[in-house]
Amino acid sequence: MRQRTYCGVPDAAYAGKPVTLCGWVNRVRDLGGLLFLDLRDHTGLIQVRPAQENVEHREVIRGLRHEDVVMVQGRVQRRPEGSANSKMTTGQVEVIVDSIEILARAKTPPFLPEEADKIQEDIRLKYRVLHLRSEGLQYNLRLRHRLCQSVRRYFDENGFCEIETPFLVKPTPEGARDFLVPSRLHKGRAYALPQSPQIYKQLLMISGYDRYFQIVKCFRDEDLRADRQPEFTQIDVELSFTDEREVQEIVEGLMVRIFAEVLGKQIPTPFPQIPYEEAIRAYGSDKPDLRVPLKIVELSEIFAATEFQVFKNVLENGGAVRGINLPGCGGYSRKQRDDLVEKARSWGLGGLVYIIPTAEGITSPAAKFLSPEQMLEAVKRSGSEVGDLTAIGADANIQKLALGLGQLRLWAGHHLNLIEKDQYQLCWITDFPMFEYSEELGRAQAAHHPFTSPVLADLDQYENEPLKIRSRAYDLVLNGHEIAGGSIRINRMEIQRRVFNLLGFSEAEAQAKFGFLLEALELGAPPHGGIAFGLDRIAMLLAGADSIRDVIAFPKTTAALSLMDGSPAETNAAQWAELGLKPISGITKMIQDQIDEDTQK
Ligand code: AMO
Repeated sequence: MRQRTYCGVPDAAYAGKPVTLCGWVNRVRDLGGLLFLDLRDHTGLIQVRPAQENVEHREVIRGLRHEDVVMVQGRVQRRPEGSANSKMTTGQVEVIVDSIEILARAKTPPFLPEEADKIQEDIRLKYRVLHLRSEGLQYNLRLRHRLCQSVRRYFDENGFCEIETPFLVKPTPEGARDFLVPSRLHKGRAYALPQSPQIYKQLLMISGYDRYFQIVKCFRDEDLRADRQPEFTQIDVELSFTDEREVQEIVEGLMVRIFAEVLGKQIPTPFPQIPYEEAIRAYGSDKPDLRVPLKIVELSEIFAATEFQVFKNVLENGGAVRGINLPGCGGYSRKQRDDLVEKARSWGLGGLVYIIPTAEGITSPAAKFLSPEQMLEAVKRSGSEVGDLTAIGADANIQKLALGLGQLRLWAGHHLNLIEKDQYQLCWITDFPMFEYSEELGRAQAAHHPFTSPVLADLDQYENEPLKIRSRAYDLVLNGHEIAGGSIRINRMEIQRRVFNLLGFSEAEAQAKFGFLLEALELGAPPHGGIAFGLDRIAMLLAGADSIRDVIAFPKTTAALSLMDGSPAETNAAQWAELGLKPISGITKMIQDQIDEDTQK
């Protein structure tokens, strides 16, 4: 098969040339006298035809079934006048068979690759090889390949060294649940699969490697969604003697390179920077989709003296009143407005108050509770014009209000068709709080991870009010998806101690968990910082896919199952015994212990 020609390649310039084609039977078309075989490989389709008089070849082709694997030797010729197909790259030509060989037969496939999109996802995942043959997934995985090559070239050119870090590790600090690998040699002990190479890349900085990157698998046992998998890939980056802006400039350069090389698109830099608090206030999200041209506006002062009970109560209880313009919704029927209120409730809002500017003046279903001046000002601030509608929410819990209006903003973006096609909006989110209050733990926990540096002036000022301390963390957001997160790290042990203290870790606990990093921190640690990208998410967004499952060759379901290989698989008693574990009616002792522990909590 040395002289093989790919199916999607021959064009009019190939006319008269001999070719050897290998591929899968896409379709056989038997139009009485005329018999065609459409042969497919990863480059596309080509029309193959037996010579009219060759009975043997006609018989072979008639006997072919979908997805049989075939080798054809033949000669390219221009298609007869009027039968060219402009939709196919090879539509000008066809191949007349000199010889045809069936290399492998296929059973009747449960679906055809080209029809995969219409098939239920569990069947597509079970027969992944068929789905992977489809043009869509071939495109996605090759785009992902180009993305990886672009990343590698960029970092190599910028002095970064790709270094692998171990998969069998001590638990890492990202805060999701670990996947554990029980040790056979050391019974009762287990490795964790890394949630990220975080500690190891910091150790590499302390070891003097200066600029590191790695395209690396990470493992997190957490609830899955369209953009989360239990094993996913990071582009992990760390550099020494650096600060926020240098890391961000390197990332901006990388994104420019990726967009140019993978999509042929120019993107402007620097990316806008939005402090966390503003992101929550104006977009109702810490990963705002800037393609939606709407902002949430503060209306509390307008209603400071209101007698409208709902707003009055909320404002007296330290809450806020905020609104957003819904373009083109001014003519909504009562039913449409009520349906939107129902949606708003599902997003955690108590309800919505509507104000509608019309050619005859401003109206509102709540007009008897609001003064004309208040309504005018609310409409002005939200930017509503005649034909639009201002939707207002109020809540004593400002975070809840912000996030609810954020959902409304996204709904509006998608349902009112406000998002222009093929737009890519990147932004940095900065000034994150260092800690967030965990109801579950009853204390502060690290918002990023515990090695993130606090803003030192904040640490000095607010040691007693840790929720006011900002961190030196940053996230990169693309079209409403968090595609990367990172920070400047702590490089001095006394700061690390103070942070552990605020997190409620005792010295002993910190030593037990991360002792090997802490020891290294005392051996001369350069200032350092970095970032990690969700490679799957970037590939998904560049490919225009809806889920990261569509850019991963062999993904898991949202229930963390592989329908193709059946993992996680039942494991026999002997294997458990070898690991020092005992299965209890199908579940291991370890799981039983965990359940017992959770029940006692
Ligand atoms: P973080 O936890 O924010 O940071 O992860 C970095 C990026 O990885 C992607 N990501 C995921 N993608 C798919 N499935 C998942 N389950 C999943 N979880 C995370 C996201 C995210 O932005 N060590 C730090 C980075 C650092 O500080 O340098 C870390 O892992 O796109």
